[in-house]
Amino acid sequence: MKEIIERIKSEVAEQVIKSEQDLENFRLRFLSKKGEVSSLFAKLKEVPKEQKREVGLWLNDLKQKTEQKFLESKERWEGKSKNNQPSIDKTLPGVNVLSGNRHPLQIVQNRMIDIFTKMGFDISEGPEIEDDWHNFSALNFPDNHPARDMQDTFFINGDISLRTHTSSVQVRVMERKQPPIRTISPGRVYRNEAISARSNCFFHQIEGLYIDEGVSFADLKQTLFLFVQQFFGKDTKVRFRPSYFPFTEPSAEMDIYLGTETEADNRLTKGTGWLEILGCGMVDVDVLNNCGIDPQKYSGFAFGMGVERITMFQYGVKDLRTFFENDVRFLSQFRTI
Ligand code: PHE
Repeated sequence: MKEIIERIKSEVAEQVIKSEQDLENFRLRFLSKKGEVSSLFAKLKEVPKEQKREVGLWLNDLKQKTEQKFLESKERWEGKSKNNQPSIDKTLPGVNVLSGNRHPLQIVQNRMIDIFTKMGFDISEGPEIEDDWHNFSALNFPDNHPARDMQDTFFINGDISLRTHTSSVQVRVMERKQPPIRTISPGRVYRNEAISARSNCFFHQIEGLYIDEGVSFADLKQTLFLFVQQFFGKDTKVRFRPSYFPFTEPSAEMDIYLGTETEADNRLTKGTGWLEILGCGMVDVDVLNNCGIDPQKYSGFAFGMGVERITMFQYGVKDLRTFFENDVRFLSQFRTI
């Protein structure tokens, strides 16, 4: 008899009650008139007299434990516990707390900033609404330069427009202080372009400027090469192509090699294997003069790159507009630690 009681006791303890149906099954199996516990009481008659008292005690204990388990589970299902507080089922999985995450452009921009600040560049910022001097004239744009045209620039009023690049911030830095200057200027820029999968009327840039005594094109190459190795990987191949910007002389554009193996590489590089990632050059003597820096004593280099373009490449994003639609389903894919 004792063994049977013990077995039922442990079976009662093992029952997992997760639904109202479980609860009812539990009641039927153990506590109903024909249930296992009740039928044991019926058997008490057959127990020899001298053991009756002891077996009776065990049985009562079993009955009490079974009823207690039933009542506790029932209370839980009715949403109330003994002290009338809503009950908490500690075994239920927790509710996920929704947390935000950084915007993909911000993730990429932060990585870039991180690499340049480790090399000793500081960060400078400036206004998005600029005057003609800082956005164009100081940077050697001739009066009739096409970039000043209504096609590219959002003019606000007379000389005032939305900045078309963050080179304007670099002019402000040069006007404010003498070399050594080592700074990057991240920020939003505006161009009056048709909105499509590949271009938008505003985007983000990081431009860099380094001016000191004896800075050469070799410094420019090495700095950008180091950046590329850290950002895209140690074995990334780069090439420089001659180019033209009014504010640098000589000027170049830098490409990284992706290859032509995948369809995406071919699409991005138009079949050449090379992806252009930035413009750069030695700061033009006229620009230094315009900003009050002595070109006899100092020289420097500058570079600028678009954050969207590099983010699209890094994450395989095909449509630039998705960055600005703020669709959480798109944005929440870019989780970082
Ligand atoms: N300002 C240029 C642009 O917006 C980029 C650039 C910066 C090129 C510095 C050369 C040197 O396209």
